Amino acid sequence: MPSPPPNRLDFDRNATSPLDPAVREAMLEALAIDLGNPSSVHGLGQTARRLVDRARQQVADALGVAAGEIVFTSGATEANVLAWRGVLGHGKSGFAAVTSAVEHPSVRAVAAQLAEEGAAVTSIGVDAEGRLRLPELAETLQGSATGLLSLMAANNETGVLFPVATAAALGRQAGATVHADLTQALGKIPVAPKTWGLDLASLSGHKLGAAPGVGALWVRRGVRLRALLPGHQELGQRAGTENVLGIIGLGAAMAALPKRLATATEVRRLRDRLWSGLQTRVSGVRRNGDVSADLETGNTLNVSFADIDGATLLMALDLEDILVSAGSACSSGSLEPSHVLLAMHGESPEGRARARGALRFSLGPDHTDAQVDRLLDLLPPLVARIRGATVGGRTPA
Ligand SMILES: Cc1ncc(COP(=O)(O)O)c(C=O)c1O
Repeated sequence: MPSPPPNRLDFDRNATSPLDPAVREAMLEALAIDLGNPSSVHGLGQTARRLVDRARQQVADALGVAAGEIVFTSGATEANVLAWRGVLGHGKSGFAAVTSAVEHPSVRAVAAQLAEEGAAVTSIGVDAEGRLRLPELAETLQGSATGLLSLMAANNETGVLFPVATAAALGRQAGATVHADLTQALGKIPVAPKTWGLDLASLSGHKLGAAPGVGALWVRRGVRLRALLPGHQELGQRAGTENVLGIIGLGAAMAALPKRLATATEVRRLRDRLWSGLQTRVSGVRRNGDVSADLETGNTLNVSFADIDGATLLMALDLEDILVSAGSACSSGSLEPSHVLLAMHGESPEGRARARGALRFSLGPDHTDAQVDRLLDLLPPLVARIRGATVGGRTPA
């Protein structure tokens, strides 16, 4: 079985996570048998159907909802797009949506597309700590005909949590269908979509130890969506032969969720150890995002390094096989500063410099003290080297 190179330090777990052993086992078991098409009525097809239905039940149990409310998708991106287009596209609700300025690019993209098609989309801002401006949300929702309120539960770049239940109550009062992107919250904090008063919730398998390319949208019974891919599969919400193997893995990952959650305190301890170490060993570091224990996921550390371009540091770390991220995974290939950090710190030269100098370290259940300490040994000389080069370049003697 392939295992990662022994010296690799993977601190990019908000981007993706290694396969959970329970997921690997469930997928290997399924690979060993003939998997039919779950839509076939014969025995072979029904074997696949049973496995998909078992996974659906596992996902539902982990969320505290009914199996008949789970729609499997290719990931959280598709779940987010189905939520947005599904609600705004069926013509019953108002063609208006309210969201935040710091959502995942998948939400920003579909919001921009719908705005081009004439939807009124309002983005609520955040404060300098990344917290949602609730009064602004309340004011926006008041008296408006909002079809959809869509917010992330936890931010992928900073780990800051949004008060989803409070926001959902405001949204429902205003008559909106309420969607939350649970992708970065699951496995880090307990989630309760029904209790929180949501109508729709997205999740992604590969952030939880399942394989990339599978996710789900929870659709509260009674909520009507217009299908992106019309057809008979997935409650009529998502046509196409199911990703049987991926779905089996997602079911196993969701069944293992309590085990993952039980590691949250230890993950937080290691993350805090990393932050303390960085503060003592590297000058000019500033943390991005609210650091109150109950307001963030506990696994994410977003740090701005003064006088450094985050992308340069990221590449230097990559050469040492140390994996981190500059901003969100999807925008890390570009040189644009993170929209999340710009929303927090503003577009002034200082705000942009802070965003440009940022790196995200994100931890998972299998990290160790030794790995954190190795990172703390390797990082300071790289920072010093890049700063030396930058300062030398700027002020030639
Ligand atoms: C908050 C959030 N939403 C959605 C996604 C997209 O998930 P997927 O990779 O399953 O499409 C991500 C992935 O980074 C995310 O962090």
